[in-house]
Amino acid sequence: MKSSRASRFFDDETKGMCALCHVLDPIEDMAGNTWPPAFTDFTFDNLGVPKNPKNPFYKMDKVHFDDGTPINPMGADWVDPGLGGFLASIGMDEYVAENYGKHKVPTLRNVDLRPGAKIIEPKIENMEMPPPEKMPKA
Ligand code: HEC
Repeated sequence: MKSSRASRFFDDETKGMCALCHVLDPIEDMAGNTWPPAFTDFTFDNLGVPKNPKNPFYKMDKVHFDDGTPINPMGADWVDPGLGGFLASIGMDEYVAENYGKHKVPTLRNVDLRPGAKIIEPKIENMEMPPPEKMPKA
């Protein structure tokens, strides 16, 4: 990554701290080959990201599978359980609570590429965010 103002912010531990999770270091595989950074540490975190009201999934209580069941029976009340939901689905109940709402740190490679203008950008401004003092601490 070239050293622009944005990339210095991204890597600065007193500012964005983005690189703590979206790691900038090259990756070395078991054969000793070096690969470009993956922009993820491959872990899961609960950032407390609020609902994005533009996400069509919240209206899918009115859209049905062929058998008549709604795609999202909870509609606008649905909360993404993240990793905790997956662990519950495979019966690992003892790990559900500590992983509730955790999502995988995604790569940021080509994050701004979208198939069309109707797909909203992955920006915090597109979400209904609580004020900073109400944000969960990492
Ligand atoms: C504590 C770890 C952590 C830190 C620090 C962090 N992120 Fe993330 N980031 C995540 C996780 C986890 C997600 C996925 C959140 C979700 O799906 O709810 C994410 C998602 C994103 C996305 C959305 C990607 C997509 O494909 O939709 C962007 C963009 C992003 N982060 C940029 C940043 C920037 C810029 C910073 C610094 C200001 C930052 N992140 C700091 C963990 C982190």
